[in-house]
Amino acid sequence: MADPWESTMDHAVAIARKAGEVVCDALRGDRMVTTKSSAVDLVTQTDQKVEQLIIQSVKEKFPTHRFIGEESVAAGESCILSDSPTWIIDPIDGTTNFVHAFPFVAVCIGFAVNKQVEFGVVYSCIEDKMFTARRGRGAFCNGEPLQVSQQKAVEQAIVATEFGSDRDPEVVDKIFQSLRNVLCLPVHGVRGAGSAAMNMCLVASGCVEAYYEIGVHVWDVAAASLIVSEAGGVLMDVEGGEVDLMSRRIIAANSKTVAERLVKTIVAFSPPRDDAAPSDRCEDSTHLSARKV
Ligand code: IPD
Repeated sequence: MADPWESTMDHAVAIARKAGEVVCDALRGDRMVTTKSSAVDLVTQTDQKVEQLIIQSVKEKFPTHRFIGEESVAAGESCILSDSPTWIIDPIDGTTNFVHAFPFVAVCIGFAVNKQVEFGVVYSCIEDKMFTARRGRGAFCNGEPLQVSQQKAVEQAIVATEFGSDRDPEVVDKIFQSLRNVLCLPVHGVRGAGSAAMNMCLVASGCVEAYYEIGVHVWDVAAASLIVSEAGGVLMDVEGGEVDLMSRRIIAANSKTVAERLVKTIVAFSPPRDDAAPSDRCEDSTHLSARKV
């Protein structure tokens, strides 16, 4: 059957590649850094420029489509996923990596209809790896099919996670309790690429068995969530059950077995949801400042 979203996905891949070129060019110059919800939640002019580039290009081609974009939400736009065709955009996932030229940064474009992700594009632009997935049609990296690892023993797994950008000591304590529990399972190792989407693409590629994080946003994980499931992986909430992309909690694993072991191991908590009213999202403007790197 003809794919109704084929040309839409082709456009997403083309615009992700173009956005990646802008990101790589910017790495060769100065980067003006500002902070958002905390002193370590960074944003640069390149994040904003790339998001505008993607949104403009999509608006011209698909004028009725809607958007959820990291920087648009930071600027006060709503973060509601309706049934309408919606582009979920993270212009640079791994902004801290970008600021430090740590080489894992990704342009993420998810596309959802009826609240279901139809395709996902994650472009790791420094590595020049284009990860794509179309619902029901598999996941690929530069056109090669992806398959999760077949290792089901968590004791022989590598688990990826991140520390996020919340420095509330109570939150940091919970993150460290989880990390301690995971290390003591024991696992072969813990890794973190500095980008939620890249960690999830590592799960899809079979390099790590699982990734978990509490504190991610819908734009970090929407595109990559389909890449994981189409590569044969499993998505689960940190307390078990289905993942809610707005909940800011995710386990992406190679199997139900590994995901369920992590559910028993992680210390769960609930940050304010992405679709909460802006006043409940705890944005703290006292951290706003700009500096060049
Ligand atoms: C962040 C990165 C980071 C993760 C944070 C994300 P950003 O996204 O994915 O690895 O720990 O939770 O918000 O801000 O670089 O787009």
